[in-house]
Amino acid sequence: MAEPKKLFIKTYGCQMNVYDSARMAEAMGADGYVLTEDQAQADMVLLNTCHIREKAAEKLYSDLGRLKPVKAEKPDLKIAVAGCVAQAEGEEIVNRMPLVDLVVGPQSYHKLPAMARGEGPRVLTEFPEEDKFDHLPKARATRRAPTAFLTVQEGCDKFCAFCVVPYTRGAEVSRPVDRILAEARDLVGRGVREITLLGQNVNGWHGAGPDGREWQFGRLIRAIAEIDGLDRIRYTTSHPNDMTDDLIAAHGDEPKLMPYLHLPVQSGSDRVLKAMNRKHTADAYLRLIDRIRAARPDIMLTSDFIAGFPGETDQDHRDTLRLIEAVGYGSAFSFKYSARPGTPAAGREEVPSEVADARLQELQALLSRQQKAAQQSMVGRRLGVLFEKKGREAGQMVGKSDYLHSVFVAAPEAKIGELVEVEITHSAPNSLAGRLV
Ligand code: SAH
Ligand code: SF4
Ligand code: F3S
Repeated sequence: MAEPKKLFIKTYGCQMNVYDSARMAEAMGADGYVLTEDQAQADMVLLNTCHIREKAAEKLYSDLGRLKPVKAEKPDLKIAVAGCVAQAEGEEIVNRMPLVDLVVGPQSYHKLPAMARGEGPRVLTEFPEEDKFDHLPKARATRRAPTAFLTVQEGCDKFCAFCVVPYTRGAEVSRPVDRILAEARDLVGRGVREITLLGQNVNGWHGAGPDGREWQFGRLIRAIAEIDGLDRIRYTTSHPNDMTDDLIAAHGDEPKLMPYLHLPVQSGSDRVLKAMNRKHTADAYLRLIDRIRAARPDIMLTSDFIAGFPGETDQDHRDTLRLIEAVGYGSAFSFKYSARPGTPAAGREEVPSEVADARLQELQALLSRQQKAAQQSMVGRRLGVLFEKKGREAGQMVGKSDYLHSVFVAAPEAKIGELVEVEITHSAPNSLAGRLV
């Protein structure tokens, strides 16, 4: 029997890419490929790329540069580029880097096996009419992990002025309820106890229900929560304008929905929010947070911020700091603005780089103080922890708390996939420690 061919995948960017990489591995698995962690062993290297900021996109080209001597040694090595750079740059990638054999955009992953066999085009970045999810093989476990991602929605119709996602992922598409429930049940049947629902605009999901009606996202969560054996539900990423009353209510009355919400606001200045095309004010966001906290007082909030958006003044920046103070985040990402080709903000006059850097540092300092305080406030509390792996020390397990903090626990008898109650005893910079109750 011939040795199976080996596939090495590198994933950049967001969780949706992580999910897609797993699905591409399955599609290629049906064609006889097995995954390898060792690039040197690979017959095919697949780079699943991100285009969100310039630095993210440039990583592809530095990795391809490193692959040049490898391919010179091993001419049969197939190199494929997938993901959002593939979608945004298409043909340009093979022109700039002829060593690339295949370029496939996120809507065409079901065609990857045929392309790898040489039975398709070299570059495929169309948005086909058919839904790729209908053609991808059913998710199959490569390992038994207690947590899993499940993509329910893809694409974005919001067109924030800075963002490439509406161009790289296309228009919003919601998967139908029955497909999602089937995939969720299948995951739970294989030992998954926590599912994170994914979408670029996940709370904007609205899909065909089994009753022939259109369902909203809150109802989907409630239906998934009915699956026996599933203990925890999370979702990401949400837009403030799609936080419906029903979804907020679910945070109050659906115990499987974890008390954690990533709700990016980007800026605390109305002028900047308007220029970003975010379609809400800072005050509307704060009132929304009040309503969410009224439903679930202990919810932990996280966000994304952009420093140095074109036209941002010192006053705008101070407004952002003020909004952060007013909310009190559990953690947050902040990024220096990066002009992306083809987006509305790309032509606008930029804030001087050193000014943007200084603002970014100020945001990060405040956000990390808040993160530290949020973690410290967990000490003494009893939280659920779902064990995901063994710790470095003997008898130690590591898992995630309800609030998504990593928690280290001495639990020599425990198994991966166990959900236990832990009393938090200590807060370290990026994790917590606790003891079994
Ligand atoms: N769909 C999500 C996240 C999209 S990308 C949302 O609506 O919030 C993740 C984050 O990257 C964004 O929230 C934003 O903070 C950041 N980002 C996107 N485009 C950017 C750009 N051009 N420059 C800097 N940061 C950017
Ligand atoms: Fe990008 Fe805005 Fe859509 Fe988020 S909502 S993916 S930031 S365009
Ligand atoms: Fe990046 Fe595309 Fe995700 S641009 S953040 S990989 S949707």
